Amino acid sequence: CRSALGESVYQTALQALRRQEHLLRAQSAAAERKQVTVMFADISGFTAMSETLDPEDVRSLINACFELLGAVINRYDGYIDKFIGDEIMALFGAPIAHENDPERALRAALDMMAALQTFNSQYRNRLPRPLALHFGINTGLVIAGGIGTAARQDYSVMGDTVNLAARLEGLSESGQILVGQNTYRFAAPFFEFKTLEPVKVKGKAKPVQVYRLLKAKVAVAGQARGLKGLASPLVGRNEELAQLKGALKRLQAGQGSLISLIGEAGLGKTRLMADLKAAAPELEIQWASGRGLSYGENAGYLVARRLFFNLMNIPLEATPVEVGKILQTELRRIFPANLRPEPGARDQRQKTGNAPENAATDAEALSFLDVYPYLAHLLNAPLTDKAAQRVKNLSGEALNRRVLQSAAAYIAAIAQRAPLVLAFDDLHWADPSSLELIQQLTALTRRSPLLILLLYRPPRPQSRIREFHAQLNQLPNKAHRVIHLSPLTQKESTQLVENLLLRCDEVSKICKLVVA
Ligand SMILES: Nc1ncnc2c1ncn2[C@@H]1O[C@H](COP(=O)(O)OP(=O)(O)OP(=O)(O)O)[C@@H](O)[C@H]1O
Ligand SMILES: [Mg+2]
Repeated sequence: CRSALGESVYQTALQALRRQEHLLRAQSAAAERKQVTVMFADISGFTAMSETLDPEDVRSLINACFELLGAVINRYDGYIDKFIGDEIMALFGAPIAHENDPERALRAALDMMAALQTFNSQYRNRLPRPLALHFGINTGLVIAGGIGTAARQDYSVMGDTVNLAARLEGLSESGQILVGQNTYRFAAPFFEFKTLEPVKVKGKAKPVQVYRLLKAKVAVAGQARGLKGLASPLVGRNEELAQLKGALKRLQAGQGSLISLIGEAGLGKTRLMADLKAAAPELEIQWASGRGLSYGENAGYLVARRLFFNLMNIPLEATPVEVGKILQTELRRIFPANLRPEPGARDQRQKTGNAPENAATDAEALSFLDVYPYLAHLLNAPLTDKAAQRVKNLSGEALNRRVLQSAAAYIAAIAQRAPLVLAFDDLHWADPSSLELIQQLTALTRRSPLLILLLYRPPRPQSRIREFHAQLNQLPNKAHRVIHLSPLTQKESTQLVENLLLRCDEVSKICKLVVA
């Protein structure tokens, strides 16, 4: 069933079941105090609509709209608590908690705004006027659990945090996303806000500080994790760094490899990779990276797209048309415009949407048009007429196969020019289609100067990354090498703390005074 449906469909269905399981458990368990981000989203324009349209029309439009907005909330692993008329109450952090629920809620709100625009243009002819959204979002402690009568209980949350979120929604005007102090504090590195005048709200003695969310920052400045300005030279990790450097040396000599660097949060995976990368320029090695985003586990090809943007130097803020232009130029550099047709072979390939196995990684066997439509699809770039023609008649599965083959052909061609490192960070958050693509690329490490470096936290039971890790372990000739990061020794930790304290301005001043 899994291979027939495709990995993405299978994983999405599995995720829905897991969510249901969490919910049932949370509902029957005792009430608990939890840190949650609560979202109230109100749709304006429905009242006017219900006065002019046929009730059945109103119902079908409302449901279509909720369907679209609900899908966005699901994508960020939020939970729709309830629909209250034309309002949605959603939770981020309950029943399932993530390390960045405020960020997820705000990204969801921005995406819901965008989804509503799409809805408005799609239903232009049926809507008396366009619909609009406004939001109140707040983070804090709530009581969570099954709430209701003995016969009918729903999982929900209660408390001051919820009330303030509702009040903020009441204060917001059409098109605005208003957030409270706590949400702002957690999400500030990732978004641009406007600070508004503090407002008096019922039930609060002091005026509360309110912020208006403007947009997401394209690139997050500096390190979003760890403390700003606090850094230490690398402590310990000699053995691990030596292993990684060994792989780089072998890569320089033309030999590829596949390495997973696994360790709990904060143990230094990203740091080790950064120190390794610092050694790469001397070796004349190309380095490209992609990373999982904690709110991107369900977004198709997110990690892969980031990798390709990085490989082709495409700015993250590029418009789809700009992406398409860069992609065309890049692929024309690598793949010939036309191939001398091998009698029969190309016709067959076009009919089935299936490239022969060896052509999948052999740039010389593929022309520009064999690759461009599928990579344009991967990067969400608009398709030219000719390219669209190719994609149109393929089934989802055949299209996916061509995307994977085209990606592999491109990477193989790049690696032929100079040894290439593909480094993937935070893979525990990767989306299923990107993992499938990375898996496809692992085969190249056997015959190309390609080092694939994968960073993730120890896989939890039943997680996607656990399955991925297990599949890598099945590769022939023990091709998958694993480096486990264990916690630093007590001596190393002491050293690290000392280094960090000395970097603290105040401590360092005191030190100087003492030593002087
Ligand atoms: N051995 C070390 N020497 C010096 N600093 C270190 C060391 N290990 C980690 N750090 C510092 O600790 C912080 C956390 O490390 P890092 O971000 O690399 O962890 P991680 O394993 O990537 O965690 P996550 O899974 O959350 O991404 C960083 O500021 C990093 O520079
Ligand atoms: Mg990291």
